Amino acid sequence: MAESMRGLKRTYRCGEVTEAHIGEEVTLMGWVQKRRNLGSLIFVDLRDRSGLMQIVFDENDVGSEGFAKAGTVRSEFVLAVVGRVEKRGGAVNEKISTGALELRATQIRILSEAQTPPFPIEENSQTKEELRLKYRYLDLRRPDIQKNLMVKSQVATLSRNFMAEQGFLEIETPILGKSTPEGARDYLVPSRVYPGSFFALPQSPQLFKQLLMCSGYDRYFQIARCFRDEDLRADRQPEFTQMDLEMSFVDVDDVIDVTERLLKHLWKEILGIDLKTPLPRMTWKEAMERFGSDKPDLRFGMELHNVSETVKDCGFGVFTGAIQAGGSVIGINVKGQASMPRKKIDSLVDFVKGYGLKGLAYLSVQEDGSFKSSFAKFMTPEELESLAAAMEAQPGDLLLFAADKKKLALETMGALRCELARRLDLIDQSRFEFLWVVEFPLLEWSEEENRFTAMHHPFTMPMEEDLEFIDSDPGRVRAKAYDIVLNGYELGGGSVRIHQNDIQEKMFECLGFTKEQAQEQFSFLLDAFKYGVPPHAGLALGMDRVVMLMVGTDNIRDVIAFPKVKDSSCLMTQAPSPVAAKQLEELGISVTPLKKEEAGTEQ
Ligand code: AMO
Ligand code: AMP
Repeated sequence: MAESMRGLKRTYRCGEVTEAHIGEEVTLMGWVQKRRNLGSLIFVDLRDRSGLMQIVFDENDVGSEGFAKAGTVRSEFVLAVVGRVEKRGGAVNEKISTGALELRATQIRILSEAQTPPFPIEENSQTKEELRLKYRYLDLRRPDIQKNLMVKSQVATLSRNFMAEQGFLEIETPILGKSTPEGARDYLVPSRVYPGSFFALPQSPQLFKQLLMCSGYDRYFQIARCFRDEDLRADRQPEFTQMDLEMSFVDVDDVIDVTERLLKHLWKEILGIDLKTPLPRMTWKEAMERFGSDKPDLRFGMELHNVSETVKDCGFGVFTGAIQAGGSVIGINVKGQASMPRKKIDSLVDFVKGYGLKGLAYLSVQEDGSFKSSFAKFMTPEELESLAAAMEAQPGDLLLFAADKKKLALETMGALRCELARRLDLIDQSRFEFLWVVEFPLLEWSEEENRFTAMHHPFTMPMEEDLEFIDSDPGRVRAKAYDIVLNGYELGGGSVRIHQNDIQEKMFECLGFTKEQAQEQFSFLLDAFKYGVPPHAGLALGMDRVVMLMVGTDNIRDVIAFPKVKDSSCLMTQAPSPVAAKQLEELGISVTPLKKEEAGTEQ
C-alpha cells in the first residue's frame, strides 16, 4: 500500500551524500534498484538521478514492522528512508560515488509500489531500443540517458548565459508560420478559420531572425525547436533543437568567432577540455577533394588521391573510359592491408555499389614489391609503378580505386574511407576534431528539378569576388557560407545574408523564380528590406548533435527525452493518430484513405 510522505522532507539526493555526512541523520527518497536479504540484514540500493545509496535495514534500528516492510520491497518501488550515514561495513564499491558509505535505516515508507518493469533499469541496456522507446518513461530512468539529458540541460543553461553576456537577446519566433518552398518538406497545421489554408511548423527561425535584424535587435539568440519532414537517420529527427543566432553589422569572421568561443566555453565547462582556437578552416573544394565529404572526419588520415592524370593513358579501359567521359579516378591507400582477404574486399565492392558505383578496383603491394590486382593485367609494369607512386604506396599497402563521374567517385570513396576506418578500428574515440568548412558553392544543380537550388538557402550572400560569374557560370559562384564540422558530423551552419535587393533578385532569378513568385512567397522579407536593413549574418548549431557528440553516442535518440523512430512516429504515444471526424469537419478536411499497402498498417 502506498504511504504518504507527510512529516518527511528529503534532505539530499542519494548520490549527493558524502563522507562529510557520516554520523548525520538524513532522509533519502528514490527508486529501489535492488534488494538483497541476508537473514538478519536487508540491503536495498536506492536510486535517484544523482546516483545510488546502499541502505541497510537491521531490525534493531528500524523495528520489526519496518524490517518486515523492507523485506517486501521490489525493484522500482519508490521509498522514503530515514537513517544515519555510516562508513560501509562490507567491501567498498569503487564504481559509485557513495561506494564507501551506507545508510543505516531507522524508518522506511513505501511511497509507491511498482509492477515488474518490462526490462531491467540499468546502464548500457541490452534491451532492444524499440521496447525501450515504447516504455520511454522507464527507459528515461536509466543512468546513462539521465546523464545525457543532464548534459543537454547544462548546454542550454551555459549557452543562454554565455550569449546573454555577449549581448545577445533571446527572442521567441512563431511556431505557427508560413509554408515556403526550398528546404525540406514542411509539417502543416490546418487553419480552422481559413479552411483549406495551412500554417507550417518552422524548419528554422531563419526569416524571422533576419527580420529581427531589420528591426534593430542587433544580436539575437534562441534555443529553437525546428521541424522537418524528411527521412530520418541516426543523426536526424523530425523535430530537433537549434541554438540559433543572428548578428548585425558583421561578416563571416565575427560569426565564426562568437561560435568558437561558445563551443570552447561548453567543452571547457562540461568536459573539462581546452579547445584550441581558432579552429582550423578548410574550403569546401579542398574538403571534397581530400576527403570526399563536406563534413570530413579528421580523426584519421587515409585521404583520397585523384590519380586521373597518372592513369589517363594507361591500358585499363575502366579508368581511361571514365576519364574520357569527363570523370575521374579516385584512390585511397589503406595502409598495411595488402593481405586483406578477398571476401572482405568483395564486401567493400558491395559497399560502394550501394552508392551507385559500378565497381571498385584494387591493387595490393606485396612485401616483395610485386602487385596483386584486379586490373594489373591491363597495365604495363611502368604504369603500375607510377600509379603506386602517385598513391604513395609502400609494400604492404592496399590501394582501392573508383572510376566514375568525379562527384560520385569522390563522395563514394569518402564514404568508403569512413567505413574502412570503422571496420579497421582506426578512429580514436577520445578526440574532438573540429573544422570550419567555408566557401561552399552558392548553388547546386538539381537533376531532379532540372534547375539550380540554393545549397544553403536563398538568402545566402555570394562571395563578392565571384559575383561577376553569377550570369555566365552560376555553378562556379561561392557563397559566404560556413559549416562547423566535428568528427564527421555537421554540427552547425550559417551564412552572411543578402541585404541588397539587386543581389537578392539575381539569386531568385538563378533559382528559377519569377519576380511574382518571389514576391508571393517572401514579400514580407523583401518588403522589410526596403525600409533599411543592416548587413547581417548568423548560424545555427544543432543542439541535439552537439550533445550527442559530447556524450559520445552516435544515436541522436539517446539525447532526446521523447524521440521519434525511423518512420517519424512515437512508439510511446502512438502519434500520429487518426482524429475524430468532427475535428476534421471543423477544419474542412476530408481524408482519402490510402490503400492498405500504402498505409503500411491495417485500419
Ligand atoms: P541548417 O539547416 O544547416 O541551417 O541547420 C543547422 C543545424 O541543425 C542541425 N539539424 C538537425 N539536427 C537534427 N535533426 C535534423 N533533422 C536536423 N536538421 C538540421 C544540424 C545543422 O547543422 N537557418 C539555417 C542556419 C543559418 O543559416 O543561420 C539552418 O537551419 O546540426
Ligand atoms: P571488369 O572489366 O568489369 O572485369 O572490371 C575489372 C575490375 O575493375 C574489377 O575489379 C571491377 O570491380 C573494377 N571496376 C569496374 N568498374 C569500376 C569502376 N567504375 N571504378 C573502379 N573499378 C571498377
